[in-house]
Amino acid sequence: MKIKLIFLILSFVTVNAVIEKARYDNYRVYEINIENEDHLKLMQEIENFPDGYKFMEPFGKIKSNVRLIVPPHKFGDFSELVERFELKTRLLVTNLQEVFDREQPKRTKRSTFDWSSYWDLDKIYDWLKQLTVQYPNDVTLINIGKSYENRDILGVKVNIGGGTNKKSVMFEGLHHAREWITAATVTWMLNELLTSTDNEVRELAANYEWYIFPVTNPDGYVYTWTTNRMWRKTRKPSSNLLCYGSDPNRNWDNFFNQGGTSMNPCSDTYAGEFTFSEPETRQLSEFIKTIPNLAAYFPFHSFGQYLMLPYGWTHELLENYHQLYAIGEKAIEALKAVNGRVYKFGSIANVLYIATGASIDWVKYELKTNVTFEYEMRDDYPAARDTNGFILPAEEIIPNSIEVFRSLVVILQEAKAIGIA
Ligand SMILES: *[C@@H]1O[C@H](CO)[C@@H](O)[C@H](O)[C@H]1NC(C)=O
Ligand SMILES: [Zn+2]
Repeated sequence: MKIKLIFLILSFVTVNAVIEKARYDNYRVYEINIENEDHLKLMQEIENFPDGYKFMEPFGKIKSNVRLIVPPHKFGDFSELVERFELKTRLLVTNLQEVFDREQPKRTKRSTFDWSSYWDLDKIYDWLKQLTVQYPNDVTLINIGKSYENRDILGVKVNIGGGTNKKSVMFEGLHHAREWITAATVTWMLNELLTSTDNEVRELAANYEWYIFPVTNPDGYVYTWTTNRMWRKTRKPSSNLLCYGSDPNRNWDNFFNQGGTSMNPCSDTYAGEFTFSEPETRQLSEFIKTIPNLAAYFPFHSFGQYLMLPYGWTHELLENYHQLYAIGEKAIEALKAVNGRVYKFGSIANVLYIATGASIDWVKYELKTNVTFEYEMRDDYPAARDTNGFILPAEEIIPNSIEVFRSLVVILQEAKAIGIA
């Protein structure tokens, strides 16, 4: 009897202590065509009152598509909405959990860091630290401060062969928590800069000082591993404690909250209480200001296969648009030549939607950095063949990395040739 009681108490404690990982069994993903103002308003209503619905990515343009996750308890409601608003939809995924289950290959305990699977924050940080041991003269660890949940925000500086007065290039990975491919590709590119035997790459690698941050939203990233794979934002609780986090890429001090954002703390595009309300964005911006001779800034996101220029806050073209446009066209050609992947190219506002408070806009507008390109990497959308969104199967990490890096090499070579990098 006594033993039984103890057992009961023990199991009660465990159930309460372990946060269970969210599952998406039988959740469906629909593609919805936003054809008119009514459809757009409806989508915005769903975003503000989700009750289990979740959008795969932000939206904001009429005549565009959006992917919506529909939980089983909403199937009935959803068919009614489809009828009432005459929505054109396409069922992409019948069981989202299966897509998650396919993402990672099986790994043994002894697997070492590589690019055949995704790695959690600790493993990525361990690898960065190990690089400083392996390449003590070329690689320095940089800690720009603490996240809201008190994790370090770590990156590295790479200066191959030493030397001063080099121009600098920065990579910003994983600002959005669920975009795992960005951390994987940024670490792959870092490895390539250190180990490639290709002459072009060696020359490029030695020519610049590289500031590389694979995970700029560590709390969000950890949360996608432990609790909810679909998490996008940071993890600071809202004042009423009902919802968590801000969209870090809406939180920068640049036309803050003037479009493409939400003031609802439960929304995935919540801009935050005020500019730089998140310790992650504030400290990152402060750090960027200290980088000497910053010639190029690259934020990495997924998905959709876009190469983008600022700005997101306006349809107006940026100062050196034509210069960067010519470079970008060559870059997407080079990217396509690798695996046939087609990237769309243009300014954020023009190819995607208006979005304010993005890091790239801040860098371009405040620091006047010459070369600023944002990637939305695989998968392909709205092409029919890819339905994973940001749940990109691990076997695509390397092909994605190779094609992205190739285009990035072209961007820097072309920019150097005309004296802007
Ligand atoms: C930016 O471009 C200008 C030419 O337009 C060049 O003089 C300057 O050195 C560039 N800045 C950097 C950091 O590369
Ligand atoms: Zn993103």
